[in-house]
Amino acid sequence: MVSIFQWLILSLCVPDIFAQTQGWNLLFGTTVPEEVVKKPLTFDNPVPKWIKGSLIRNGPGRFEMGPHSFLNVFDGYAKLYSWQFPGNGSVYFSAKFVQSMFYNESLKIKDIARYQTFDDLVPPMSQLNKEEAFIRGLDNMNVNIYNYTGECVLLTDVWKLYVVDCHTLKTIRSCDPPIPGDHTTFPYISGMSVAHPVPEVGTDYHLTIRQSLAILPGMSDKFTLVRVKSADIREKVAEWEVKKMPYQHSILSTERYALIFATPLYMDTKALLQSFVARQSLIFNKDEQTTVYVVEIKTGQVHTIQTETVFSMHYLNAYEIDNNTIVMDVASYPDGSVVAFFEMDNLMNKTRRDSAPYKPSLKRYKIDILGKKIKPMSFGVNPKVPHVNMMDMPTINERYRSKPYCYAYGVVFKSDFKTFGNFSIVKKDVCSSFGDLSWNVADQYPMESWFVPDPNGSREDDGVLLTPMLDGKLGKSYLVILDPKTMKPISKAQLPILVPFHFHGRFIDNVY
Ligand SMILES: *[C@@H]1O[C@H](CO)[C@@H](O)[C@H](O)[C@H]1NC(C)=O
Ligand SMILES: *[C@@H]1O[C@H](CO)[C@@H](O)[C@H](O)[C@H]1NC(C)=O
Ligand SMILES: *[C@@H]1O[C@H](CO)[C@@H](O)[C@H](O)[C@H]1NC(C)=O
Ligand SMILES: *[C@@H]1O[C@H](CO)[C@@H](O)[C@H](O)[C@H]1NC(C)=O
Ligand SMILES: *[C@@H]1O[C@H](CO)[C@@H](O)[C@H](O)[C@H]1NC(C)=O
Ligand SMILES: *[C@@H]1O[C@H](CO)[C@@H](O)[C@H](O)[C@H]1NC(C)=O
Ligand SMILES: *[C@@H]1O[C@H](CO)[C@@H](O)[C@H](O)[C@H]1NC(C)=O
Ligand SMILES: [Fe+2]
Repeated sequence: MVSIFQWLILSLCVPDIFAQTQGWNLLFGTTVPEEVVKKPLTFDNPVPKWIKGSLIRNGPGRFEMGPHSFLNVFDGYAKLYSWQFPGNGSVYFSAKFVQSMFYNESLKIKDIARYQTFDDLVPPMSQLNKEEAFIRGLDNMNVNIYNYTGECVLLTDVWKLYVVDCHTLKTIRSCDPPIPGDHTTFPYISGMSVAHPVPEVGTDYHLTIRQSLAILPGMSDKFTLVRVKSADIREKVAEWEVKKMPYQHSILSTERYALIFATPLYMDTKALLQSFVARQSLIFNKDEQTTVYVVEIKTGQVHTIQTETVFSMHYLNAYEIDNNTIVMDVASYPDGSVVAFFEMDNLMNKTRRDSAPYKPSLKRYKIDILGKKIKPMSFGVNPKVPHVNMMDMPTINERYRSKPYCYAYGVVFKSDFKTFGNFSIVKKDVCSSFGDLSWNVADQYPMESWFVPDPNGSREDDGVLLTPMLDGKLGKSYLVILDPKTMKPISKAQLPILVPFHFHGRFIDNVY
């Protein structure tokens, strides 16, 4: 943990943090080595007793080992955090590093072990080490956590996953399940998938995709839509060829269709096999449109429809209006440059991060399946909450997944349109902007929020939002329980350790 003394020294060396964004250096790239086992938290107001289960979250938590550090925040060693609510007003906090092969081997050799990373290391890896790392693949599942029919799994944008015990956060095993009847072995590289699969409506299963890059010239790449029956069992739903493979981070579905929103940020196989660094193989082609693959889940039939040039990693929700029309809401960017935003050089230089083009905007796509047309729509500007449409890290009341809905919750990173570091936690009303709300405290940094529905509630926003926060002024983290109706705090509890920026998680009902 960074002590007050270290923090003062850092503050003196980085005058940056006195300018409006105190504690910024604690948010990104700060290693907090401490692990915590079930420490009781003290809240300033009673915690509703109907909150029963665990909020479990995943993200990069350690950024160096021996002589090497990571160039990109995305590559930090996975660390898990949990907040257990037994349902009697008590709350217990835990934090633990994922004991992957990557982490174990790194500790053993006291250096960053040779497994694939998104970006290079500092100092850079030799070409030979990059090749070796590429061949061994990515082993650091630091992005998301799902409940796959009873087992907790950790995901990133690759096919391999880790199973963990959600009660103790202990790492159980890794898993690289085959797809029966799949032929994407040599000459394909089939390691890519998404960190945000989607629950399949009416089942306990999930839908995901596998991306296969052809390494021989003249061959096409392949998408496979896959049903996840458990951590180990996969089933092919559909397979189709593409000329170039776009980078994918999420998928969506409605009752009858899976949606793959393929923006023109491509993975260039040739560049990949030259550099062996994933980051250097990503190329945004601003002259190409986005392709939406609408896949009939029952039959595997694929409808291919084009729309405007955008980039997106996260979607809010999608649903069918009638048999031929789908609505899909997306946190979009005009291009793929947001991927470079999370490089340490950009994040840690205030002039650069504030002036770099950063233009997120919520979009709605109305898909006419038979007419093969998509109508892009923007949400109007609400003068009361002018920044609300810039949100990313969207979550919703999961009871409304794949159904008509009104509310999404997200983080806006540049709420005053000037300072990347003015974070807000917002509620977006996609039905009518009347419900738009925002909560913002100077020099405090909210993470993705999770909506827990009130079991007795009837309205979509009957429940609470659980939001981990970093207070930059105090240099401490806390959990806040927000009322989604007002976006005002109900109760807060300081955490025993600093919890820096991390990605995603969810509330799992039966872990407490
Ligand atoms: C739900 O409401 C019923 C009837 O008002 C009450 O008895 C019950 O305790 C409530 N349950 C929860 C979880 O609040
Ligand atoms: C709540 O439940 C936990 C776990 O069952 C227990 O350890 C704790 O003492 C309980 N707290 C209260 C206030 O009853
Ligand atoms: C890493 O090491 C720990 C502690 O020895 C062990 O429990 C865990 O299973 C190891 N992880 C893997 C993936 O082998
Ligand atoms: C995960 O979901 C399944 C339903 O698919 C449920 O039966 C199980 O209890 C859940 N597991 C946990 C740990 O919450
Ligand atoms: C929509 O499709 C369902 C099932 O295929 C069918 O039963 C229903 O009549 C259709 N509705 C309309 C308005 O076409
Ligand atoms: C920060 O970024 C600005 C603008 O790109 C650049 O001029 C400056 O040299 C950078 N400062 C440092 C310390 O790298
Ligand atoms: C951050 O942005 C919000 C919304 O625009 C604004 O009200 C607030 O004053 C800004 N905070 C700081 C510290 O600049
Ligand atoms: Fe994500």
